Amino acid sequence: MKYDPELIVERNEDVYPPSDDSLLLIRSFDVRSGERILEIGCGSGIVSMHCAMNGGIVTCGDKNEKAVALTKRNLSLNSLRATVVETDIYSNIEGRFDTIIFNLPYLPVEEEGDLALSWSGGKDGLGPLPGLISGAYDHILPGGRLIIVTSSLMDGNALRSVLEGLDARVLSELSLFFERLSVLEISL
Ligand SMILES: C[S@@+](CC[C@H](N)C(=O)[O-])C[C@H]1O[C@@H](n2cnc3c(N)ncnc32)[C@H](O)[C@@H]1O
Repeated sequence: MKYDPELIVERNEDVYPPSDDSLLLIRSFDVRSGERILEIGCGSGIVSMHCAMNGGIVTCGDKNEKAVALTKRNLSLNSLRATVVETDIYSNIEGRFDTIIFNLPYLPVEEEGDLALSWSGGKDGLGPLPGLISGAYDHILPGGRLIIVTSSLMDGNALRSVLEGLDARVLSELSLFFERLSVLEISL
């Protein structure tokens, strides 16, 4: 999708703001009209708003209640529609989707707090990724896909192990001075 810098995006100090990884993700894939999209970890709502602008029928959610409120506010400011829920991965998600997206918390650190939820991926940096993949089969439509952001800072062996046997391809990559980000599309 084309990134739209004209979108109005309010911020909250306890919610992840649109960042390099958000923009990389947005630019990495396209959405077709009527495509059913689920975004887990919507943060400010920047990715979900782009999906809605491009014709997606969007459900999104976040474990951080302030992110849920901010996403609703930003959708409303841009006259866009999506269903927004507070959820721990799929805990509060109903239905099935063509595409499930998650710009994961991917740093190998164990920190607590609303904002730290954005980057704290635990000891191996995988965070909610194993649960995202194992639960996807109950939430994906036939021929569906999972789109995630991974980082070179994640434990490479743990990541390979969780992706083993899956049909994954790299959609795009971005090298920053301290890490390399990859957007992966996994066909389920
Ligand atoms: C890196 S931020 C991405 C925010 C936004 N999607 C973007 O690309 O700018 C990760 C988001 O995932 C949320 N999150 C972390 N763990 C979660 C979980 N288990 N279930 C739902 N959301 C979660 C965080 O609160 C945060 O908003």
